Amino acid sequence: MNVILQAQALSKYYNSRGNVIYRALDDIDLTIEAGDFVGVMGPSGSGKTTLLNLLAGLDEPTSGKIEVNGMELSLLSDQELALFRRRELGYIFQDFNLLDTLSVKENIILPLVLEGLPPQDIEYSLQPLLHSLRLEQLVDKRTYEISGGQKQRAAIARAVIHNPSLLLADELTGNLDSRAAKEVMESLRSMNEAKQATILLVTHDPFSASYCKRILFIKDGRLFSEIRRGVNRQAFYQQILDCLSVLGGNFDDVPFTGA
Ligand SMILES: Nc1ncnc2c1ncn2[C@@H]1O[C@H](COP(=O)(O)OP(=O)(O)OP(=O)(O)O)[C@@H](O)[C@H]1O
Ligand SMILES: [Mg+2]
Repeated sequence: MNVILQAQALSKYYNSRGNVIYRALDDIDLTIEAGDFVGVMGPSGSGKTTLLNLLAGLDEPTSGKIEVNGMELSLLSDQELALFRRRELGYIFQDFNLLDTLSVKENIILPLVLEGLPPQDIEYSLQPLLHSLRLEQLVDKRTYEISGGQKQRAAIARAVIHNPSLLLADELTGNLDSRAAKEVMESLRSMNEAKQATILLVTHDPFSASYCKRILFIKDGRLFSEIRRGVNRQAFYQQILDCLSVLGGNFDDVPFTGA
């Protein structure tokens, strides 16, 4: 078993007004192995983004520890942490974070340009990615000239071009219609299957979640339950809906359209 990420007794408390301690995340244990494809679901405010930010080293836990590839994040200096994020992680934010002044290609290769890689090495990494994410025709367009689903695929390409140990994504398909969401999830699945990419994503959408290998449900900052997918995605989708109804909260109850 090749463990990529291990979080132990992870908690994040906030001091709210009146000095009441608010437990945004409470005592979470999590192990992610190479090639894993994990979904995190839970009602709004349950702590999903907080969890991703802690795992990405963007925020510090109140207690508990996180190891990525055997490196304990709290022991890294600010500079080491910045390098760790740049080299080991891919992070896709909900609003894509693509730069409007750059072309699709310039956006995608940015992490490698920052690393100072020679142009031929960059092309070598870029070409197969453009092919697998079907972005070949779009490389020279500006990001405002492409659709939401295309932007999301470009954001995925940028997040994985440096072969990160772990890809983290927050509401990857939240702004997409069902067809674009399906395309994006198919792209992630093929990266997970073909390249053993390790993925953790937060989603409200049961259809997108049905592409994962397992789903963690969190409620009020605590792990509530976990389910694993069998061979049939449609059955998994139904299982996810059942878990969400037990969990409560508002979810998009999208009818299953996928094959
Ligand atoms: N900086 C902060 N200070 C105080 N409370 C915070 C802070 N950041 C988040 N919280 C609280 O922590 C809880 C968890 O927030 P988080 O953003 O992780 O939820 P979420 O599960 O991602 O929700 P959503 O599905 O709406 O994105 C919320 O109740 C939120 O108000
Ligand atoms: Mg969130």
